[in-house]
Amino acid sequence: MRPFSLCLLLAFSFLSRSHALVVHESISVPPSSYTYDGPAALDEALTLRVALAHTNLSGLEEMTYAVSDPTSMLYGRHLTTDEVLAYIKPAPETHALVSGWLSENGVTVESTSFAGDLLKISLSVAKANHLLSTEFGSFTHAANGKKSVRTLRYFVPETLQQHIRFIHPTIAFMGSISSSSLVVVAHTEVSAGAPPVSCETLWTPQCTQDTYGVPSSKATNSPSNVLGVAGFFGQYANSQDLNVYLSTFRPDLVGSSFNFLSVDDGINNQTLSAAGAEADFDIETTVGLASGVPVTFISVGPDNPDGVLGAIDIVDAILSQPPETRPTVLTTSYNILEEAIPLSVDVAICNAFMQLGAAGISVLFSSGDGGVGGPTQNTSCTTFLPTFSGGCPFITAVGGSTGLPPQVAASFSGGGFSNYFPKPRFQLDDVASYVTSLGQQYSGLYNTNGRGYPDVAAQAVDVAITWQGVTGHGSGTSAASPIFASIIALVNDRLIGAGRPVLGFLNPFLYSPAGRAAFDDVVSGSNPGCGTDGFSASPGWDPVTGLGTPKFERLLAAVGL
Ligand SMILES: *[C@@H]1O[C@H](CO)[C@@H](O)[C@H](O)[C@H]1NC(C)=O
Ligand SMILES: *[C@@H]1O[C@H](CO)[C@@H](O)[C@H](O)[C@H]1NC(C)=O
Ligand SMILES: *[C@@H]1O[C@H](CO)[C@@H](O)[C@H](O)[C@H]1NC(C)=O
Repeated sequence: MRPFSLCLLLAFSFLSRSHALVVHESISVPPSSYTYDGPAALDEALTLRVALAHTNLSGLEEMTYAVSDPTSMLYGRHLTTDEVLAYIKPAPETHALVSGWLSENGVTVESTSFAGDLLKISLSVAKANHLLSTEFGSFTHAANGKKSVRTLRYFVPETLQQHIRFIHPTIAFMGSISSSSLVVVAHTEVSAGAPPVSCETLWTPQCTQDTYGVPSSKATNSPSNVLGVAGFFGQYANSQDLNVYLSTFRPDLVGSSFNFLSVDDGINNQTLSAAGAEADFDIETTVGLASGVPVTFISVGPDNPDGVLGAIDIVDAILSQPPETRPTVLTTSYNILEEAIPLSVDVAICNAFMQLGAAGISVLFSSGDGGVGGPTQNTSCTTFLPTFSGGCPFITAVGGSTGLPPQVAASFSGGGFSNYFPKPRFQLDDVASYVTSLGQQYSGLYNTNGRGYPDVAAQAVDVAITWQGVTGHGSGTSAASPIFASIIALVNDRLIGAGRPVLGFLNPFLYSPAGRAAFDDVVSGSNPGCGTDGFSASPGWDPVTGLGTPKFERLLAAVGL
């Protein structure tokens, strides 16, 4: 061997061992809502999560579609938890290399997520600065004054780049996170036994049953068909409120209750003054519509090991339940701005929802209440603001509709196109034809190739609620998601009765020819925001009401019942 090549080899290995660091993630400036206060104190404690590369994520995606697409041979053959984990679990090499790097730097792994793909580490700012060759700063959120320790970029050894998806929270500025903007308006004239009020004034469970053809008879095959209702941000669902609601609107269901599952030490405080409007709304709407289906309130506590508000912890908690008691449908009426979460983290949360879909669990989200302006009304936006998780293809986003049939779009119905997720296979033609119909309108304000949302719609205006003892109404897509979820749970009940698998990840079925035929298209109304008139509901799929509103009998026909 010639001496100079040996030198070269040595030099190269020296470089790759000690010096070859690469920028792993970066942003150019913090969001304008934050101010930089200077370097973070070196002795401040940080808790970070290191997300490891999955063994075969594309394989799981392929399988998720295969078990959810009605035209596939594998339709309905949902994966077991162990089968899901086999795709997700990091390879032993990945685990060894990343743990080795951490321990060389004196950092110990405190805990590991269910699938082994998220490592939780705690370290001082000084140590984190050294580990990631960066300088963490202290940032203050202008509106809520909350301080965050973040950085604008960080490095990892080049040899580890393929093994680490991201480290969080580093470049994530989540802004102020609000629960829903639900406003409850009291209806003093509403009480048990009082004559019914018009559906245009107060939308009761009876109105939903009449409009969407939902049966009032009780589900019969229910023990293994749990409907999960997610609760965040200290929202508690109150049993006393539920009882008043049922005796007013569903006297036949009085005595129906709900189960409770705690995630990240979440509680469900039963003091009446602690009842949350959102949690009450979601529980009352589901228990009062999905007659006889067991409903579980899943309360996520404030301290989330996943570092993403519990969005991944809730998935882990569900997947680790025995199949007989875990939900087959999960509804969530909380939203956040897509851009508030870095792409890498959004993708990680979306992949967690994909795991639920692969395992046969339908994941539904409200589409947001700010029209094209995102989760809440926003007049200062200069481009349309997509809502998370509307962009994730593995969830079914539920927009808002209103009125006696034919229904029209609710003006606040969150809808548009993701800036993070490309349009998925099930809606390629839908998005393309809607975008073509727009021509140059709104050019530059939205992503013409993004995943379009919502997928479907349901009533969202003046929906009945009992909150802290007062019965009245509330408006928001917060109502639409539990309504749609209840209908899916009732379809699942019939499927179980026929010895068939439940629906699972819904979108390939909903967008199939048979699935579409189960919807009443919503063709008027729009979702204004950001100083524009927003998108218009129109024949076919649209980014205001999706495919339209459901009809129960036609959903049964679509699944061959
Ligand atoms: C990934 O999973 C798919 C689907 O099960 C499979 O066909 C493929 O062989 C897997 N790839 C690897 C590298 O294991
Ligand atoms: C429940 O809520 C009430 C009213 O907000 C509060 O006083 C009480 O401390 C709470 N209980 C628990 C266990 O958090
Ligand atoms: C409103 O829009 C502005 C401009 O796009 C954006 O920076 C801000 O985060 C939005 N606010 C909310 C509450 O969504």
